[in-house]
Amino acid sequence: MSTKHLLTAVLAAVVLIAVAVLGRGTGETIADSTTSGQSAATAEGAAGDPTDVPEAQTATAGAAENAAPAREAPVAGRLARLTPDAAARGWQLFLDKRCIDCHAVWGRGGDQAPDLGAASSGAISEGRLAAALWNHGPRMWTKIEDLKLPVEPISNEEMEDIFSFFFYVRNMDAAGDPRLGRLAMLRHGCRECHQVSGRGGDLGPDLSKWARYTNPVLWVQKMWEAGPAMREAMKEKGMEWPVFAPGEITDMIAYVRSVSPSSDKIYLQLGVPADGARLLQEKRCLSCHEVGGSGGEAPDLASVSLPGNIAEAAVNVLNHLPAMLTLMGERGIEPQHINAQEMAHIVTYLLSQTYIEKSGNAEQGEAIFTAKGCIDCHGKGTQAAPALATMHAEDSAAYFSHAVWNSGQKMLKELIADGQHWPTLTHAEMLDVLAYMRSSAKAGPAGE
Ligand code: HEC
Ligand code: HEC
Ligand code: HEC
Ligand code: HEC
Repeated sequence: MSTKHLLTAVLAAVVLIAVAVLGRGTGETIADSTTSGQSAATAEGAAGDPTDVPEAQTATAGAAENAAPAREAPVAGRLARLTPDAAARGWQLFLDKRCIDCHAVWGRGGDQAPDLGAASSGAISEGRLAAALWNHGPRMWTKIEDLKLPVEPISNEEMEDIFSFFFYVRNMDAAGDPRLGRLAMLRHGCRECHQVSGRGGDLGPDLSKWARYTNPVLWVQKMWEAGPAMREAMKEKGMEWPVFAPGEITDMIAYVRSVSPSSDKIYLQLGVPADGARLLQEKRCLSCHEVGGSGGEAPDLASVSLPGNIAEAAVNVLNHLPAMLTLMGERGIEPQHINAQEMAHIVTYLLSQTYIEKSGNAEQGEAIFTAKGCIDCHGKGTQAAPALATMHAEDSAAYFSHAVWNSGQKMLKELIADGQHWPTLTHAEMLDVLAYMRSSAKAGPAGE
């Protein structure tokens, strides 16, 4: 039974990755450190990682205060649910609910369906996930029937965990390319001041020892710390502060690793968004930035358009360092010391701001609900379909997705019996429909 054997082997491998990537333990070795998942991992002298949820929640509520009109209040709750622990549970569910039978994650797992680890189309968000699950539902359920797999029911909490898993996995960094990394270092003139494998200037420290730090966040944090001195040195040499293009930092790390003998690896733990929210306050970022406000001199951190991974999000902070230093100087704000783990929390928080979206438009949602024919079955409800007012959209896209996962097959059969096609929803439409369902559930006669 070689297929069975293969499946067992693949599952074992995937579990290994999961342990390495999502395990909160320290220092596990990821089979190949230059592949995805660099951002898992444990910091050099990282301070303990107190995931104090109540505290984090308050801090978050504080940070998101300006952002949040009353009806967005659940944002703090949703942020608190995004944790490495939730992601680890989500990963276990991904196995238990047999998603892995069809889907791979980073190339390991089934090959019947898209690889869900690959960040195919930029940043990930709740609404995008819900839309993807909705739109792909019919083919997925048909395939499940074809393969005679059971549709494992998924609870709301479980879907939240699966969403968390997607948030972390999709934000992992891609592997760097050492060849491109060498070119990037040349382009930015790093070797004017730094040695790598015995060649280069000596104004700054030898970067070879940095081969141990596979995690781009660690590099960014070190460059943030070295920023003021490095900028001075650059000024003296008439050099501009480097603005890194996407991918360059991971490429440079791959290069330094490829020419350095060190085989140790220093890992960082996954960031916790709620801790990042607290740190924005502690590190005085909020003395210039707002989160979700109308902004002052500094960009609104809730609407920074971030590339879909941690390395690039971290680099984004770095690219703006000189302008920040200038303004800090003017305002008499000391540059803050930020350790690597704190940087990971902050960056993960910034990514979570893309992930957790603002509510859609309920009025538009109503129009879509009508135009797509949802109203035909869900308006007053039918024998099989629940009436809109009794459907609980609650506060999250994950809630909607869990309900659709559990009911989808039945809904699909009704549609087919009616001679209709499955109505697809774009990302924006999904947000509007969710907003509409939420308002109807609250306003409806049968509301809770
Ligand atoms: C029987 C096979 C099968 C199982 C089991 C399965 N899926 Fe899928 N899934 C598919 C197929 C096939 C597609 C692509 C459908 C399409 O192209 O329309 C898909 C698409 C998706 C997508 C959209 C992907 C994208 O690129 O936008 C997501 C998200 C997803 N599945 C999540 C899950 C989750 C979560 C589970 C487990 C709870 C699961 N799937 C279980 C077959 C499966
Ligand atoms: C003009 C000189 C100069 C250039 C060009 C330069 N650096 Fe630096 N770099 C320095 C100096 C000086 C320090 C030490 C600052 C300090 O002591 O705080 C430093 C520190 C660092 C550190 C922290 C090292 C440690 O051990 O703490 C890293 C990482 C780093 N640089 C990376 C880079 C990269 C990557 C580039 C190219 C994009 C680059 N530097 C370009 C001068 C430079
Ligand atoms: C003294 C005011 C000030 C402080 C303090 C400050 N920033 Fe900034 N920040 C700025 C300014 C001004 C810019 C825009 C810089 C530019 O245009 O290059 C910026 C840009 C950014 C960007 C890029 C935004 C974009 O649109 O891409 C990020 C991310 C960021 N800061 C994060 C932080 C974090 C995290 C902290 C705290 C550790 C912080 N900032 C502290 C003033 C500040
Ligand atoms: C042909 C009739 C029909 C149409 C059209 C239809 N649905 Fe459904 N839907 C159903 C049925 C039947 C169920 C309940 C299945 C069950 O009980 O498991 C359902 C269940 C659901 C659920 C889960 C309800 C819950 O609370 O558990 C959601 C969410 C949902 N539909 C959303 C929509 C949306 C959004 C549209 C339009 C884009 C739509 N439906 C169009 C028949 C339909």
